[in-house]
Amino acid sequence: MNTKYKIVKAEHLNSDTFMLTVESEIISKRARSGQIVNIKCGDEGGVLLRRPISICSVDRDKGTFDIVIQIRGKGTKILSKYKAGDEIDIMGPLGQGFSLYPKHKKIIAVGGGIGIFPLLQLLKDHPAENKKVILGFRNKSCVILEEEFKQACNKLFISTDDGSYCDKGLVTDILRKELDKEPADMLFFCGPLAMMKVGVEIAKEYNIPCEVSMEQRMGCGIGACLVCVCKTKNTDDWEYTQVCKKGPVFSGDKIIFD
Ligand SMILES: Cc1cc2nc3c(=O)[nH]c(=O)nc-3n(C[C@H](O)[C@H](O)[C@H](O)COP(=O)(O)OP(=O)(O)OC[C@H]3O[C@@H](n4cnc5c(N)ncnc54)[C@H](O)[C@@H]3O)c2cc1C
Ligand code: FES
Repeated sequence: MNTKYKIVKAEHLNSDTFMLTVESEIISKRARSGQIVNIKCGDEGGVLLRRPISICSVDRDKGTFDIVIQIRGKGTKILSKYKAGDEIDIMGPLGQGFSLYPKHKKIIAVGGGIGIFPLLQLLKDHPAENKKVILGFRNKSCVILEEEFKQACNKLFISTDDGSYCDKGLVTDILRKELDKEPADMLFFCGPLAMMKVGVEIAKEYNIPCEVSMEQRMGCGIGACLVCVCKTKNTDDWEYTQVCKKGPVFSGDKIIFD
């Protein structure tokens, strides 16, 4: 199976985050919002395992898709050096994406940090009439993709941890305020575990279904190694579930946030 694709654009969005636009008819046609790709970074020790990255945006007409990557360690540092014209080794699309039910007319997507990326295609694809998105960043210099999100929703809220841009504080506080003003039919969360845990509690409190995208560390990415498991509820007990295969998107009430 061919897993090598051409990078048609490579762009740095801020000091530690970059976007790659990759040409692949197959991935762009098949990709559903919330799914991931698994990327080979190189053959050196320490980066042998592929790195999971969310599909951020898809252009099905052009046969391209965008991924946005924050430099964390050796693997993402190697990926940050790729340029337009280079080939990249990508497996995907993998995993289960977000649910796009037409009965959900009003949705709110909430993201923080690297968790904002899969929400862009979710907003583009979701058939809801009223789409709000609440994004949290560390500070003003971390704010990226603002215009792209604005175009994809009815109302965009941004908060920064230090108040250097837009609102100061937690995305979940903004969510609560919005729900007090106007109910929603469905909530989506992607970001730090602590944020998603509070998000799921809020969803329960307001009696709204929700989905969370789990960003667990991964090994194989295809259900063979168990590196990515998280605790999920089953009828009257719990079990370990592979995030790469059964997720990364789960119904919020399935996850046990320890
Ligand atoms: C389902 C899923 C979707 C993801 N989507 C994106 C995305 O769209 N954009 C993006 O930039 N990153 C995304 N990530 C995170 C990305 O996979 C990791 O940052 C990357 O694998 C780190 O590789 P590295 O070799 O650079 O760093 P490593 O040397 O492997 O690790 C460096 C540091 O990053 C931390 N780290 C590694 N993996 C994760 C993780 N999964 N979550 C949080 N911290 C981690 C480590 O604890 C360590 O502190 C996603 C992860 C998952 C599981
Ligand atoms: S990453 Fe290997 S089972 Fe999920």
